[in-house]
Amino acid sequence: MKVLGISTSPRANGNSDLLLRRALAGAESADAEVEYVRLSDFKIGPCIECNSCYTTGVCVLEDDYHRLLRKILDADRLIFASPVFFMSLCAQAKTLIDRGQCLWAAKYILKKSPPPEHNDRKAMVIAVGGSKSKKQFDCIRLMMKTYFDSLGIRYESNLFVNQVDEAGDIEKHAAAMEEAFKLGSALALRQCIRRNKPVDVEFF
Ligand SMILES: Cc1cc2nc3c(=O)[nH]c(=O)nc-3n(C[C@H](O)[C@H](O)[C@H](O)COP(=O)(O)O)c2cc1C
Repeated sequence: MKVLGISTSPRANGNSDLLLRRALAGAESADAEVEYVRLSDFKIGPCIECNSCYTTGVCVLEDDYHRLLRKILDADRLIFASPVFFMSLCAQAKTLIDRGQCLWAAKYILKKSPPPEHNDRKAMVIAVGGSKSKKQFDCIRLMMKTYFDSLGIRYESNLFVNQVDEAGDIEKHAAAMEEAFKLGSALALRQCIRRNKPVDVEFF
């Protein structure tokens, strides 16, 4: 069981990053092999809408996207962590997701189905915002669903926390840190509970 955690915040040791590392510790406690990556360590440019992937299913841009995509496709579980920026994911996360247009094209235009070993893959989303808004996760939810559908990964769970702003403040939020561990551990289990919607853990 390989669990990949992607920290997309530009801020090292930020709040979403700390929750992600707690979730990975939970996955590790369930005997998963975990890998943590920071998106800022990969040079990934934005989609240029050339639409070449509509005929090939492959992105023509040559950068670190392909290296990160390989890790995403090789993982059994994905944990995707982002801060809330203007009611959505941070731009770094959105850039990675937009490059997923090649996945979308492969699935929906070229009708290529993922290999059968990919059927049990699941993903969790972590997002942290500074304000009191409860709506600020709505856009993230929709975006992540579309991305996971393109990847052929089941959307398993969300951990959404608001009113946490300064870097590292999440460490004072014991309940959120504990939930991150529990959700990470649950994600790593091989279980066949089929849900129509992801499990939501929200601290509002
Ligand atoms: C460019 C920018 C936009 C932001 N927009 C929002 C927002 O729309 N809603 C919100 O609650 N917090 C917003 N914040 C605050 C961050 O979500 C908050 O500080 C969060 O804890 C950052 O998470 P991180 O430490 O994982 O990067 C914004 C911060 C920045 C820098």
